[in-house]
Amino acid sequence: MSEVLQKARLYEAEQEKLVPQKTRPEFHVTAPVGWLNDPNGFSLYQGEYHLFYQYYPYDIHWGPMHWGHCKTKDFVRWEQLPCALAPDMPYDNGEGCFSGTAVEHEGKQILMYTSVRSIILEDGRKKNVQNQSIAVGDGINYEKASCNPVITGEMLPEGSSRVDFRDPKIWKEKNRFFSLIANRDEEGSGQLALFSSEDALNWKYEKMLMRSLNQLGNIWECPDFFSLDGKQMLIISPIFPNAKGLEIHNGNNSICFIGDYDREKLEFVKDQAYQIDYGMDFYAPQTTQAEDGRRIMIAWVQSWTNYLTPDDMKWAGMMTIPRELSICNGRLRQVPVRELEHYRKNRTAYQNVRLETADGEKKLDGISGRCFDMTVDILGADYETFTILLACDEEYRTSLTYDRKKGIFTTDRSYSGMGKDLLSSRSMYADHEKGKLNVRIIMDKFSVEIFVNDGMQAMTSLIYTPVDIDQIRFCCEGKAEFSVEKYDIVRNG
Ligand code: FRU
Repeated sequence: MSEVLQKARLYEAEQEKLVPQKTRPEFHVTAPVGWLNDPNGFSLYQGEYHLFYQYYPYDIHWGPMHWGHCKTKDFVRWEQLPCALAPDMPYDNGEGCFSGTAVEHEGKQILMYTSVRSIILEDGRKKNVQNQSIAVGDGINYEKASCNPVITGEMLPEGSSRVDFRDPKIWKEKNRFFSLIANRDEEGSGQLALFSSEDALNWKYEKMLMRSLNQLGNIWECPDFFSLDGKQMLIISPIFPNAKGLEIHNGNNSICFIGDYDREKLEFVKDQAYQIDYGMDFYAPQTTQAEDGRRIMIAWVQSWTNYLTPDDMKWAGMMTIPRELSICNGRLRQVPVRELEHYRKNRTAYQNVRLETADGEKKLDGISGRCFDMTVDILGADYETFTILLACDEEYRTSLTYDRKKGIFTTDRSYSGMGKDLLSSRSMYADHEKGKLNVRIIMDKFSVEIFVNDGMQAMTSLIYTPVDIDQIRFCCEGKAEFSVEKYDIVRNG
């Protein structure tokens, strides 16, 4: 094992003990210590689900990338594993081991990642070059291939960037491997390069599977490509597209195309582009297929452009709750993994509670907390707005408001206690279907994941309100009726 990897493993093992559990989420993945960004290598290996992630143990800010590692049997209870990859080779000595994916092959786990090498230009300036490399392992230890990097920028057609060439999605079809990799053309517009291989070591350029043509941001990071309910899904995370209505926002987006894929001609015909999650903190999702066939997605709960981690925290960045995907009425539907239900405790429910403006902010016995799974059905047609207040007291609050006439749902965390938060609210369209709006909220201390209308829309945001602020209140303008069912999520119970 290299010294760099050994150092990281020792450091995380020592430091993890110094981070009290009460300062961490209960059932969402964080790094043992330090910085975490994109999920990587989310995959089934020997009956367990492995999740790697972009990781810099030594600081709560981004640094030369390692791959952190954990695994789970049920997507809720995660076991920490030692750091899997460190920047310890000449070809990843620059910014390190960037994002990638994994596949099981002949009893081994194959990781494909972007190795970022630093080179010195003739004029003395430093430049980072991105290529793709392989590491093969047994679920704990991984050995980088001696022929790395296995896919280099030289293999791309003329006019393709050698600097932005990253985040390979590797998969196996019959006896062939494929890899889909984010790249840019000479005009600076995002494109996805497709490669194939017989052995995962020798690769051949096939084609540009898709091009942004300057339509959707300047690079499509972290592609994922898989079949779902008879269609083919392409997921990308574009940086800096121009905002369009409430569908696309400025900054980091995660978009899915639902389309069809011709496996012989290697042609993807895409349909509409949809936002995957309308919240302020959701990026770089990755999926895997569960043993029972479900397609499960996990993403980084953070945004590059609005970094909020308080300075005194020992960990930075967390993952979403893994979500089951399906296609419903031509759109992506996502719901928290059903395994979460095994961790529900202390059910509290109220049916048809009446509420009107004059009631002010209503509290209900037993409806409070910071780690919960709560479903609220907002009923009736005589109200203008309905608001759920989370992590609330007289000073703090995060509001979820539905404006029934406009059909707009908004998360607003302006008063959640984060002075450096410049982006404090975001909205999406949501239908008041069949006389009700269905809102499921998964909260784990610092994260609020909202699933509207049985998961037809999702909205994920961070709040760093002090953890003992745990009231939940309801208020409306006009007259409304609502039902609520809340469970605490107790991981060790
Ligand atoms: C996306 C990303 C990837 C890259 C990684 C670096 O969040 O920028 O494109 O591989 O993060 O940490």
